[in-house]
Amino acid sequence: MKTIAIDGPAAAGKGTLSRRIADVYGFHHLDTGLTYRATAKALLDRGLPLDDEAVAADVARNLDLAGLDRSVLSAHAIGEAASKIAVMPSVRRALVEAQRAFAVREPGTVLDGRDIGTVVCPDAPVKLYVTASAEVRAKRRYDEILAGGGVADYETILEDIRRRDERDMGRVDSPLKPADDAHLLDTSEMSIEAAFSAARSFIDAALKQ
Ligand code: C5P
Repeated sequence: MKTIAIDGPAAAGKGTLSRRIADVYGFHHLDTGLTYRATAKALLDRGLPLDDEAVAADVARNLDLAGLDRSVLSAHAIGEAASKIAVMPSVRRALVEAQRAFAVREPGTVLDGRDIGTVVCPDAPVKLYVTASAEVRAKRRYDEILAGGGVADYETILEDIRRRDERDMGRVDSPLKPADDAHLLDTSEMSIEAAFSAARSFIDAALKQ
C-alpha cells in the first residue's frame, strides 16, 4: 500500500503540503476533513440536529466522496459543526470505512486529517505530523482572509483555533496526536518550501524500500 498519511491541527499547512505531494507523486488525494464537513453540511442543509448520533451516522454512511468541494465546504460554521459531529464514534466508523477504501487506490494515495496515521491507515509507509504554534496558524489564517479581500479579527481566529484544537485533541475516539512512527514537521518557522522538501526526503526514503 503506497499511502502517505498526513495529520495535524487546523491551519498547520497540511492541505497545501498534501496537494503538492499528491501532485508530484501522481497520487490520489483525499482531504478527510471534507468528509466530516460534508456530513455536517448535509445535516445543516436538511435542518437536522447536530447532536443526534444515529441521524449523523446515517448521513455519513451515504456520503459520496466524489462530490466533495472545498470551496463550498470551507465556511467557518461548517468547520465548527464538523468538529462537533467528529466526536461521535459511529460517524467516525462510517467515514473511516470510506477513507480506507480510498486509501488503497493505485498507484498511491495521500490522505490528510487528524487520525490517518493512528487509526485510518496505521500501516501507511510514510506518516507526517504537520504542526505549528496556535499563534502562527492564526496569523496565517488571518493573512489568508485579508489577502482574499475579507475582514478578520486575529484574536477571534486564535480563540477559534484553540477551541478546535482542544476539541480535536481532547475527544475520546481517535484524538489528534502524532503516531509513534510519524515524522514531525513543525512549520512555525519553516517555509512551505522547506516543509515540502523535508517531506519529500522522508517519502523518497520510505517508498524506495
Ligand atoms: O481539517 P478540517 O478543518 O477541514 O476538519 C474539520 C473537522 O473535522 C476537524 O476540526 C476535526 O474535528 C474533524 N476531522 C477529524 N478527523 C479527520 C479530519 C477532520 O476528526 N481525519
